[in-house]
Amino acid sequence: MSSRSWFSSALARWYRSNRRPLPWRTDPSPYHVWLSEVILQQTRVDQGTAYWQRFVARWPTLSHLASATEDEVLKEWQGLGYYSRARNLLTAARQVMDRHAGRFPDDHATLSTLKGVGDYTAAAIASICFGRPEAVVDGNVYRVLARVFGIHTPIDSTQGRREFKALASALLDRGCPGEHNQAVMELGALVCTPLRPRCEACPLEDRCVARAAGTITLLPTKQGRTKTRDRWFNYLHLEAAPGCLTLQQRTAKDIWQGLYEPPLIESAGPLDEHAFAEQLANTHGARWRLTGWWVAPRHVLSHQVIHATFWTVAPPSGYTMPPEWTAIAGDDLERYAVPRLVERWLEEL
Ligand code: ADE
Repeated sequence: MSSRSWFSSALARWYRSNRRPLPWRTDPSPYHVWLSEVILQQTRVDQGTAYWQRFVARWPTLSHLASATEDEVLKEWQGLGYYSRARNLLTAARQVMDRHAGRFPDDHATLSTLKGVGDYTAAAIASICFGRPEAVVDGNVYRVLARVFGIHTPIDSTQGRREFKALASALLDRGCPGEHNQAVMELGALVCTPLRPRCEACPLEDRCVARAAGTITLLPTKQGRTKTRDRWFNYLHLEAAPGCLTLQQRTAKDIWQGLYEPPLIESAGPLDEHAFAEQLANTHGARWRLTGWWVAPRHVLSHQVIHATFWTVAPPSGYTMPPEWTAIAGDDLERYAVPRLVERWLEEL
């Protein structure tokens, strides 16, 4: 690929006449750019610009900021949320003063050693302030690239992050990396917006795969958090041998594999005592006696919510226990690993 792809040529022309006159673009010093990028990770340009101006008015240079107190910086950050970013800002300012004699490092690797400066921020500063050929990939860039190149790989997957980073690097205008990076982000912010993009105003419209395929609103894709699943566990609290508790080991490739729990009947939904008695008869035969129950609080796991009821039951006389059920004496119980949910029930007993 030539140093300028069709992508960056069209984009550069567009950017020259459409860029916003943002205050840090007038004097793109590392301090100004770093501050803007950290703030813009937290909020949109319109709100972020006001914060940036208050910061720079109060602390005109990095050295001023490094002398601020944490309370002062937190106060100025108030309303942006994610307050560790504000604390990192102060720490990084002091790191630059102490370790780099007050001058920002000019390469991606050293920039990345500053507190709170990740791949994105390091690439932004390195390219915008020092002309380093580092491609930035933020939400705007994901959106523009996914649409123009018709990429359906989820942006929140390892493969997606790798794929988009590689494409962004291949497209980068190595002669003007800072302008190129800002142009892609600017296009994403002004034209290739998440909702109702202004495709008719886009310099890449003719080459845009998603525009031609009618998939603009479907891209980019995310795999998202797996939907949580509700499960209903009906545990049998067996009144068999006094002083003993009947448990079995979970062997299935499922949650809590290898842990112990009372004999379980899993149902597709919640059961009242009549429905439970019926299920019990179907599973373990007739003539069981139901004498009580305890409904556990909802038990929330990362991808499942367990609704458990512990039913106190007595088997019919002469009942033969299935071999996997083990009667465990109270004193021995501590040797068996049980899920937290079962532990709660034991505390209840
Ligand atoms: N959003 C975050 N950083 C940006 C930048 N440097 N230019 C345009 N939009 C941005």
